[in-house]
Amino acid sequence: MGKWRQELEEAAWVLSKATRATAFCGAGISAESSIPTFRDPGGLWDQINPMEAGTAKGLLRAFQEKSDIIVPILMTMLDRFEKSEPNAGHVALSHLEKMGILKTVITQNIDNLHEEAGTNDLIEVHGNLFRMHCLSCGWKKKVDRKPYVQALRNRLLKIAVYDLDALISLAVECDQCGSLTRPDVVMFGEAVKSLPQAFDASIQSDVMMVLGTSGAVFPAASFPVEAKKAGAKIIVINPTENGFTHCTDIYIPMKAGDALPFIVEKIKKSTEKQI
Ligand code: OAD
Ligand code: ZN
Repeated sequence: MGKWRQELEEAAWVLSKATRATAFCGAGISAESSIPTFRDPGGLWDQINPMEAGTAKGLLRAFQEKSDIIVPILMTMLDRFEKSEPNAGHVALSHLEKMGILKTVITQNIDNLHEEAGTNDLIEVHGNLFRMHCLSCGWKKKVDRKPYVQALRNRLLKIAVYDLDALISLAVECDQCGSLTRPDVVMFGEAVKSLPQAFDASIQSDVMMVLGTSGAVFPAASFPVEAKKAGAKIIVINPTENGFTHCTDIYIPMKAGDALPFIVEKIKKSTEKQI
């Protein structure tokens, strides 16, 4: 903590005055929940080519033609998604919301961990892996993360030939019309979700915390720029510098799960003193 104490204290002070702060999050905030990021060394995009398997069609093709590569990666990801729990960073955000400081969390993550940590005002711009979306009637339904992952893994293990029928056997059926559903996530080339709400929250914010995102993917990466233009202070917490250096007011090169609980404690102590 010592090295960045001044930056942490400054962030705590700025946040203690805020009432409409936002957090804009990426894969880095779930790294301490053992879910690998995309672009760090050894991340998902080191293992599979996003141009090949990052689209719905590409993933279907890779499943059928490169199952020897894709299936072990899927198995490892399922394992991580099953075992992960919200970490101290997710929990600190939920505390900041309850303290009336943080208004909205805008996340690019699809892992459901913000919701499980207790965040209420949540915009998931890339969707949620644990919400199914019917391809015919549009019906949506949340599934429980751990039982869903276990069932999916069991079905995957039973597959002998990785063809279209095998893929269909993995899908959850729609309760309304019996058609196939798919996880309600945004893949490359698909529309980002709740974009107007996310821009609105960004522009309304008095402080934006940018947590664990490289800033490589648009339009999400433009939220901090829009927030800054509208007058927000930008606090970046990320062990390595990211694409937001030009609009950052306070930069804390730490893990979110170390920095955020410290900041929350600091705010709690300073408000107690005032009372
Ligand atoms: P990236 O993998 O691009 O960036 C993760 C960032 O988190 C990096 O800058 C890391 O330095 C940082 N990081 C790692 N561990 C951290 C920790 N413990 N605390 C704080 N920061 C940490 O992930 P995203 O920016 O989320 O989109 O990627 C954006 C989008 O690209 C994803 O939503 C996904 C991907 O393609 C889709 O799939 C549509
Ligand atoms: Zn349906």
